[in-house]
Amino acid sequence: MALSSLAFETKIRELLDELWPYALAFYHPLLDGRVQSREHLEQWCSRFYIKDVGVLLARTYAKCPHLEARKFIAENLWEEEGRGQPGRSHPELSARLPHHFGVEHSDLEERHQKRLANPQSRGRQEIVEKETWLEEFAGFGLGAEFYAPAFFELILERLREEFQLPEEVLEFFIVHLTEDEDHSRRTMEIVLRYADTDEEQARVLSAIRRHVMGEAGLTGRVREPTPLPDEVVEKLRSVDRSSAGSSP
Ligand SMILES: [Fe+2]
Repeated sequence: MALSSLAFETKIRELLDELWPYALAFYHPLLDGRVQSREHLEQWCSRFYIKDVGVLLARTYAKCPHLEARKFIAENLWEEEGRGQPGRSHPELSARLPHHFGVEHSDLEERHQKRLANPQSRGRQEIVEKETWLEEFAGFGLGAEFYAPAFFELILERLREEFQLPEEVLEFFIVHLTEDEDHSRRTMEIVLRYADTDEEQARVLSAIRRHVMGEAGLTGRVREPTPLPDEVVEKLRSVDRSSAGSSP
């Protein structure tokens, strides 16, 4: 028999808690000591281009039969497109960082395509492409967006204080502090409503794990993530989001 909505939420939250050390592994170098100098930061930033979240959302929308969930996915996609404002789509906001360090846009695109074409990365994308709407929806909303505000809060702190990067370059992180908090909350509500069989619930849990471990193939990473050090995980868990939405 399927778990009650309350029991299933508890189970999801336990899983999300267990996966903190592996979440958003693309950003780990900024938090685990691998990026120590401006030179390291430049190297990391030269690969920073979050281009295809909109593709994932559009695909999830196309698979989804439920009007209410579709509306939310469409809103999320519109935010991803910067609500139509020039230069403010999330891929463009992410590209501000490499541009700041002098990376040409054509180089950024080329490297990105190359990373995605790697057979291992391609394999991950293919698995996600075949998922049901609910797997893909939960996998991204809970397996990525749930973690983003805490990660981005700590990353912003470093990029501002230690590296003194200008605010306009940091917009990608700033917009996700509030947007992703709202998305993961609404994703949880929708997942609890529609995952109402044993099978659906089991699928949701494995999709969350798969997205955390494989980042849906969006960044082209090929290795399984290594866990973040305990002290970083503790910091992430305890990020105070009570001032979310206030300007920095
Ligand atoms: Fe985004």
